[in-house]
Amino acid sequence: MEKLIIKGPTPLRGDIRVSGAKNAALPIMASALLASGTHKITGTPHLRDISTMIELLKHIGAAVEWNDEINITVDKLNVDEAPYDLVKTMRASVLVLGPLVGHLKHAKVSLPGGCAIGARPIDQHLKALEAMGAKIQLNEGYVEVRAKELHGANFTFDIVTVTGTENIMMAAVLADGKTILNNVAKEPEVVDLANHLRDMGADITGAGTDKITINGVAKLKPHPHHIIPDRIEAATLLMAAGITGGQLTISNFPSSMLDTAIDKLRSTGMEITIDGDIVHVERNGTLKSVDMTTAPHPGFATDLQAQFMALMSMASGTSIITETIFENRFMHVPELIRMGANINVDGGISVIKGVKSLKGAPVMATDLRASASLVIAALAAEGTTEIQRIYHLDRGYEKIEDKLNLVGADIVRTENKVG
Ligand code: EPZ
Repeated sequence: MEKLIIKGPTPLRGDIRVSGAKNAALPIMASALLASGTHKITGTPHLRDISTMIELLKHIGAAVEWNDEINITVDKLNVDEAPYDLVKTMRASVLVLGPLVGHLKHAKVSLPGGCAIGARPIDQHLKALEAMGAKIQLNEGYVEVRAKELHGANFTFDIVTVTGTENIMMAAVLADGKTILNNVAKEPEVVDLANHLRDMGADITGAGTDKITINGVAKLKPHPHHIIPDRIEAATLLMAAGITGGQLTISNFPSSMLDTAIDKLRSTGMEITIDGDIVHVERNGTLKSVDMTTAPHPGFATDLQAQFMALMSMASGTSIITETIFENRFMHVPELIRMGANINVDGGISVIKGVKSLKGAPVMATDLRASASLVIAALAAEGTTEIQRIYHLDRGYEKIEDKLNLVGADIVRTENKVG
């Protein structure tokens, strides 16, 4: 297994570019199952999760080529199943459920099972499909969805769910009649998917608000799509500059998708100037401790919580971070404590007392964003940090050590002999 060896502290200085968004690419790729023909997708990041989605689409019967761009050709789909061995490696595989049911009126998808950050059920996805006339069967760890006819429905999600909203949008675009979805996710990736479905011929309005309205159409056709920049990677880079006291100029930066995060980081004393999609960030003086509570978009993203905690671990004062989306998203805490952070956790609330400096130490990545927080901490820590199980990091960050080394970091990827 590979690990990263990071020597700190290294103030980051220079220019860096944000890659395409993993969480936009995955639903866009799944949407190819809605229309026969060849779907061309550009700007996709080179990540493990993208490879997993390609494997899944090929298993279902699509032909996929991935050079600089991804071309997904759908004609006859021979399998409408997402097998356990693929779904267990990537929960987002569940995103084939909506398009398969929407196009073929049948799908058999392995239940994703929990993951490190929580149980992450898909009950809302299934409840919405039932409201649209689908019959749901659960057996042997698989959910089977059949629908003679999928009809429109007026459905309110009990809980805001990103992939739930995406799945049901993709099921509804070919359904018979009008579907109104309430209490939907408003993430930019949801809006990008709705824009793409409209380009494919769907009649869909309201994405980005609390209510999405879809009038089913008979057929969709492929349409080329360029993936939006990754707002989570972008904000992660801001915090890497903030914790190391560096100065970064970041291009391809989706500032309009990060209002809350940018406001929060400015309140810690970071100077962030925006010029179109170029952002300059630097930190003069000490970081101030600031409280934060995660919330669905446009709130502070749960995917930035671990990184923000690393930043606050070196701020002057005490900050309270509350995680409201996932029930177990503090697994970076014990690892940050090993590096000298002073953090106490009680349920979904963590209290961070800033320390003057962190110390390099061997630590373990546990999930995608936790690993990003360890990288951020290691860049600022005194001495050498070894981060093991970095396959978690590779799921969501494209060659992060290459990017960071170009702006002054000292990171080496190496094979970990033991374990
Ligand atoms: C998406 O996951 C993202 N993944 C996650 O990013 C992100 O953390 C999450 O949204 C929240 O923003 C992709 O877009 C591929 P949810 P998703 O359904 O859709 C509960 C990353 O780091 N829930 O919005 O799976 C659920 O348990 C990943 O890139 C139900 O109870 O998240 C959670 O507590 C990690 N029933 C909350 O809702 C359901 O049917 C939000 O989950 C669905 C969800």
